[in-house]
Amino acid sequence: MKKYKYSEITPEQIYNKRRKFIKSIGLGVGSISLSTFPFFGKAYSQNKTDLTTYQDITTYNNYYEFGTGKRDPFKNSKEFKTKPWNVTIEGEVDSPITLSAEEIISLLPSEERIYKLRCVEGWSMVIPWMGFSLSKLLNKVSIRNSAKFVEFESVYDPEQMKGQRYPVLNWPYREGLRIDEAMHPLATVVTGLYRKPLPNQNGAPLRIFLPWKYGFKSAKAIVKIKLVKKMPTSSWMRSSPNEYGFYSNVNPNVSHPRWSQATERIIGEGILSPRIETEMFNGYGDEVANLYSGMDLKKNF
Ligand code: MTE
Repeated sequence: MKKYKYSEITPEQIYNKRRKFIKSIGLGVGSISLSTFPFFGKAYSQNKTDLTTYQDITTYNNYYEFGTGKRDPFKNSKEFKTKPWNVTIEGEVDSPITLSAEEIISLLPSEERIYKLRCVEGWSMVIPWMGFSLSKLLNKVSIRNSAKFVEFESVYDPEQMKGQRYPVLNWPYREGLRIDEAMHPLATVVTGLYRKPLPNQNGAPLRIFLPWKYGFKSAKAIVKIKLVKKMPTSSWMRSSPNEYGFYSNVNPNVSHPRWSQATERIIGEGILSPRIETEMFNGYGDEVANLYSGMDLKKNF
């Protein structure tokens, strides 16, 4: 059985990985300067072949605004308009701002971040995201001391998003973080994947990604970031409070009420290949465990 281990990678390994990677997406090594894309922190896996394919990442999705089937987002988001697009940062700040997605993308350079996505349903993917730390965007406003949490709001557009015509969730899709979680460098604003602009089905033009939390915490197509005093209620907490808590950190020791979270299936590995063991904080514990010291993570699930 292939053992996946979250591990530190050296610059040399990064370079080799990149060469393989560039080959794998069909770009000549000479056509792209490796230094154009700074590599952030640690990668999930040492071996580039462990990356989930572009095909799987973009055709096996959860995005209920476009339907509840795994292929629905790919099929139904093709015509979705992501221009013009504005993101507002408001709430407990001195002066709220609205920036266009283009402004954000050009103001804050993206880097390659290879992180594993662990879905609460029990599957995972290793994805070469492009993005930057959410803290850089939040630092564009002056945040008041009264701000303790951050709420994210996805776009509401039932004209374009058929799924929003049905009450499968409380629309718009909402998620939240404690402010120190949002300021953690691993909390990412995603602008692309496989060095291409973010496909609609993955949350274009901008989505959040938190590698240590279940995938549903990572809201797609965000239009609003609100600094708030009180813990926000996410769409999933509202729809099923005993199944989805505010924190939703990946935790193999806390089962979902209807299934275990101890193991996961790697998308693309084939249905017969063995499941791997789920790691605490999805393998990012060295970086994020200190955010939760002294907390009972069974109670705060
Ligand atoms: N964001 C919005 N707006 N709507 C959604 O339905 N699904 C979440 C999350 N973000 C969702 C969302 C879930 S359950 C997961 S697992 C991830 O997006 C999936 O991200 P991916 O399709 O890029 O793999």
